[in-house]
Amino acid sequence: MSGTFDLASTEAEDALRLVRQTTGRRFSTGLVLGSGLGALADMVENRIEIPFTDLPGFPASGVSGHAGTLIAGDLSGLPVVLYSGRSHFYEQEDASVMRRPIALMKALGCETLVLTNSAGSLHPEMGPGSAMLITDHINFSGSNPLFREPTDRRFVGLTEAYDKNLRDLFDEIAKREAITLHHGVYMWFSGPSFETPAEINMARIVGADAVGMSTVPEAILARFFDMRVVAVSAITNLAAGMTGQELSHDETKENAPKAADKLKKLIAGVLEELAKT
Ligand code: HPA
Repeated sequence: MSGTFDLASTEAEDALRLVRQTTGRRFSTGLVLGSGLGALADMVENRIEIPFTDLPGFPASGVSGHAGTLIAGDLSGLPVVLYSGRSHFYEQEDASVMRRPIALMKALGCETLVLTNSAGSLHPEMGPGSAMLITDHINFSGSNPLFREPTDRRFVGLTEAYDKNLRDLFDEIAKREAITLHHGVYMWFSGPSFETPAEINMARIVGADAVGMSTVPEAILARFFDMRVVAVSAITNLAAGMTGQELSHDETKENAPKAADKLKKLIAGVLEELAKT
């Protein structure tokens, strides 16, 4: 089992042992919460919380609105591991900062990963508070979490990075719950500065529907670890140059909760269906 825990090292094994000993169980599904989406963690029952600072080798997240906690428990009847507060490429100039956390989920038994984020929209009709299912992504960061991976496993296929069956399930739940769930291509910019209007024009031309500073590295890592992945964005703003207003992280934190209820219902519904299979 520990063979599947990537980056085998004393630290990695210590982190795995700590979570196993503290929780005493295995898990089936991992979740990563985006900026301002911490409320999604409220859905987890029988929760055990472990701060990232207690987990050897885990990145310390310093972004406000991101707590940096592993939460283990049950959601819609499924045993889940959730990260409230991810680390970003722009914090350490390292796209692989989430490699160990994702590897830990896999080692704990998670075969499915649900990613959430806050994002800027390129469509006026998909405004703040909207939910967008990510159908595909564009990596515009110039980086990759698999840089320096020495094995041929680094050549990960991303033709269908975001699992079609899981996406269909999100659509089914959205329909059932009467939630408008947009579909779109998420373009990863490195951050931490926001984009310029010219960059947003480019993003539109190359086929993006939303922009953000996360998720793509975790999705690539999940595919690397052979997990199926699905990702959904909470739209917090229209992208740079679309409103005449400057963008801010405060706006992200303020508006993310407006989409959180939709994301909560969608994720709870999807996990409930998965629990039946
Ligand atoms: N750009 C990049 N990241 C974001 C945005 C944005 O407009 N909104 C929330 N996260």
